[in-house]
Amino acid sequence: MVTDGAVSEILVYPTMFLSASCVFALTLSWLIVTNTNACPCNQKYKDISPSANVFESAVLPNETCCLPAVGNGYLATVVYSDTIYVNGVYNGRGGASHRARIPSTAAIQVSLPSNVSVSKESYSLDLENGTFHRKVTTKEALIEQRLYAHQELSYILVNQIIISRRGPTTDPIILKLVNNTGINSKDINFKNTAPDEGTRMMYGNTVESETSTSSTISVAVNWTIIPDSITLPSNQDSKTWTFITAIGPNRMIAVASHMHATQMALEGILYSNHCRAWQDKWLHGQIEVDDITLSKAIHGSMYYILSSLPSLNYDVQTTPYHFYGLSPGGLAHGRIATDYQGHVFWDQETWMYPTMLLFHPKLGRAMLESRTYHLDAAKELAKSRGYQGAEYPWEMAYTGAEVCPAEIYSLQEIHINGDISFAVQQYLHVLRDVDFLKNRRGYEMISELAKYWESRVEFNNASGYYEIKGVKPPDEYHSNVNNSVYTNSVAQVSLLLPAYAGKFINVTAPPAWTEIADKLLILYNTTHEYHPEYEGYEIGTTVKQADSILLGFPLNVKMDNVSRYNDLQTYQPVTDPNGPAMSWSMFSIGYGEVQQPDKQREMFLRNFKNIQQPFRVWTETASGHGAVNFITGMGGFLQSVLFGYGGFRILPDHLLFNFDLPKGTTKFEVRGLDYLGSEIDFIATEKTVLVTLTDQQQGAAKLQMETAQGTVYDLVKGKPVLINRISWALIKEV
Ligand SMILES: *[C@@H]1O[C@H](CO)[C@@H](O)[C@H](O)[C@H]1NC(C)=O
Ligand SMILES: *[C@@H]1O[C@H](CO)[C@@H](O)[C@H](O)[C@H]1NC(C)=O
Ligand SMILES: *[C@@H]1O[C@H](CO)[C@@H](O)[C@H](O)[C@H]1NC(C)=O
Ligand SMILES: *[C@@H]1O[C@H](CO)[C@@H](O)[C@H](O)[C@H]1NC(C)=O
Ligand SMILES: *[C@@H]1O[C@H](CO)[C@@H](O)[C@H](O)[C@H]1NC(C)=O
Ligand SMILES: *[C@@H]1O[C@H](CO)[C@@H](O)[C@H](O)[C@H]1NC(C)=O
Ligand SMILES: *[C@@H]1O[C@H](CO)[C@@H](O)[C@H](O)[C@H]1NC(C)=O
Ligand SMILES: *[C@@H]1O[C@H](CO)[C@@H](O)[C@H](O)[C@H]1NC(C)=O
Ligand SMILES: *[C@@H]1O[C@H](CO)[C@@H](O)[C@H](O)[C@H]1NC(C)=O
Ligand SMILES: *[C@@H]1O[C@H](CO)[C@@H](O)[C@H](O)[C@H]1NC(C)=O
Repeated sequence: MVTDGAVSEILVYPTMFLSASCVFALTLSWLIVTNTNACPCNQKYKDISPSANVFESAVLPNETCCLPAVGNGYLATVVYSDTIYVNGVYNGRGGASHRARIPSTAAIQVSLPSNVSVSKESYSLDLENGTFHRKVTTKEALIEQRLYAHQELSYILVNQIIISRRGPTTDPIILKLVNNTGINSKDINFKNTAPDEGTRMMYGNTVESETSTSSTISVAVNWTIIPDSITLPSNQDSKTWTFITAIGPNRMIAVASHMHATQMALEGILYSNHCRAWQDKWLHGQIEVDDITLSKAIHGSMYYILSSLPSLNYDVQTTPYHFYGLSPGGLAHGRIATDYQGHVFWDQETWMYPTMLLFHPKLGRAMLESRTYHLDAAKELAKSRGYQGAEYPWEMAYTGAEVCPAEIYSLQEIHINGDISFAVQQYLHVLRDVDFLKNRRGYEMISELAKYWESRVEFNNASGYYEIKGVKPPDEYHSNVNNSVYTNSVAQVSLLLPAYAGKFINVTAPPAWTEIADKLLILYNTTHEYHPEYEGYEIGTTVKQADSILLGFPLNVKMDNVSRYNDLQTYQPVTDPNGPAMSWSMFSIGYGEVQQPDKQREMFLRNFKNIQQPFRVWTETASGHGAVNFITGMGGFLQSVLFGYGGFRILPDHLLFNFDLPKGTTKFEVRGLDYLGSEIDFIATEKTVLVTLTDQQQGAAKLQMETAQGTVYDLVKGKPVLINRISWALIKEV
């Protein structure tokens, strides 16, 4: 049996946790270090499905780190594990805040008697329909199990078991069911109510609040009783059992959701509805290539990130729950001392967000709103540290207070405050959403962030530059450095953003912010023509992960080709090969920019080392250590596809693209990309790119496409335009 929460007493904690963004051991000294093993999936298992949308194994891995998850942004679970997690439900004070374990009422296994001979068995993840399947064929029957987190009913997890008779016997078929509820939760004080109508209910509050002034969190679970066995009667050929788990913030919502799902199951539309919602999602955002390994890596990355995000109809003003943001391990991971405890880092904005923004701007907004929601907490944090404006914590969970267990990160890794602004900037380029700025605290947030930087910089009289001292850059192997080139660059974006965004809502930003931005020190070494990571950086010093090279992409800092190339060549050899996955995607994009296709590909292929068979779960490091399921790495990987090989750039007045075909492919399709209220499909082949505007919102901007050769086309719904693939083209408002 797979255990997750059940081991939470004997904390499993890899000592080789080099890449942890927060070294838990620093403050949680009571941790018992027991596990130094890497996730072994690639040595033991194999995906045997020929489909780009299915990951399949003949055996069920018994290591949790190899197993896939199902989720819908509100709830998620690793299949067959003893734990369900709910978005925003954390237990523990301060740095101990971690996802609260809900004993799983959805981990049901059909147990086959030992004298039954199985002729075929498979475990598969169907990405197209967001469903995990087990299929068993015996002499007497076909047994199928589906597990899915419902895409339309956020509070619902479903198990369906279907027994279909095969062969001549008419004997009743009896199958034993076992569950994997695990031990009681140590995170939530659950009480049980009396069973009712074939269901049970547990409800309670988390044990300890995140801060001394915040409240504990209430959760209620209503689930269909799991019998010891199920029987297909002798007079029946086939039967479906539906086991529904409904989880909500209170008993009323859990009961109402359970009832709603039960009704849909009775009408036979529970599963088909769920499938349709996923299919709709794919229709409005997917990347297809004609290389099966690459395709699977892309589809898997999209699936895992999307299953930690709300459904497409999520709207912060009408959806009854609040989305608390993406964590590096996704929603199905985050117990204490592992997988970053479910906290939200810059990983959300810098790594997962850009691709999601272009495919599903609403989900992009949901991520930004996970920040605006905690704006008051960020203002508090700035104040408590003697700064103005808003300072976001390095790690955020339920309250928006700092929950990073190690102070050096929380005090110094302040680039997060620029990362959030940069995400807003991209959002405005793609959507020009005035409502977000005006009515959803968007403008207020970016102003408060600029105000923070204004109070954080120091003016150097001797040089005439503003400086930022005492920071930890993205390369976390260094602390207390001055003028981190990435931090200062992203702070500059943050200081300039209010003036730009203000134009959409007729607000004038204080001119001081622009002045500071213009005089903010951005280090550059004129001898070696590259960007030193921080003041005093010596060429050859090992770095943990992509840092200075982020200036070229994603920040689009203006520089010549030589500097871009030198940055890549300086840092690539000294980037820790055992650092977190996402670095290589940024090197890949960079080498693409300076036209080094072999290096671009070499860096691109490094991503694949982090992908674990058979379900393509990612580990944080190539050696199989660190957080699983590392959706940060997937976010980087998807960027190296879309912004790397696709050449997309989100710029103030246009969307640029420049397709290159990854080696081994002859067709590269980007479907459902959103730009200024229009949806666009791109199909790149050896010589051409076919661009089709497929849908346009009412009142959306009229769009034109312009090629490098200067040819201009109107983009009109349903009228495909074919252009040469040899160089870039752009799409802009007429
Ligand atoms: C996992 O399963 C394999 C074969 O099914 C077994 O040999 C091994 O001992 C199991 N490992 C654990 C940790 O249960
Ligand atoms: C799982 O089975 C055990 C033992 O039969 C039982 O005590 C427990 O209540 C079951 N859990 C669920 C969720 O039905
Ligand atoms: C398996 O064994 C059980 C008793 O242990 C018996 O009732 C059943 O008929 C057997 N099934 C087969 C397929 O032999
Ligand atoms: C998804 O479900 C549909 C039926 O709703 C089915 O036709 C399709 O094959 C499924 N997709 C995969 C990848 O299994
Ligand atoms: C669970 O929900 C159902 C609605 O489907 C309701 O009838 C039942 O009373 C609830 N169970 C409990 C124990 O509250
Ligand atoms: C910086 O220079 C200005 C004018 O040149 C002066 O008024 C100010 O005192 C100086 N500040 C420091 C800290 O030296
Ligand atoms: C950073 O600046 C501080 C304050 O000016 C100074 O004391 C420190 O030596 C500088 N650190 C480095 C590494 O240059
Ligand atoms: C800003 O001002 C212009 C001109 O005064 C007006 O047309 C526009 O509607 C205003 N925009 C907003 C968002 O208030
Ligand atoms: C450039 O870097 C080299 C090597 O680290 C250093 O010796 C030199 O002083 C730097 N030059 C400038 C202008 O910063
Ligand atoms: C950029 O520099 C690289 C390395 O020197 C070179 O191969 C490439 O052709 C240059 N690209 C452009 C656009 O100048």
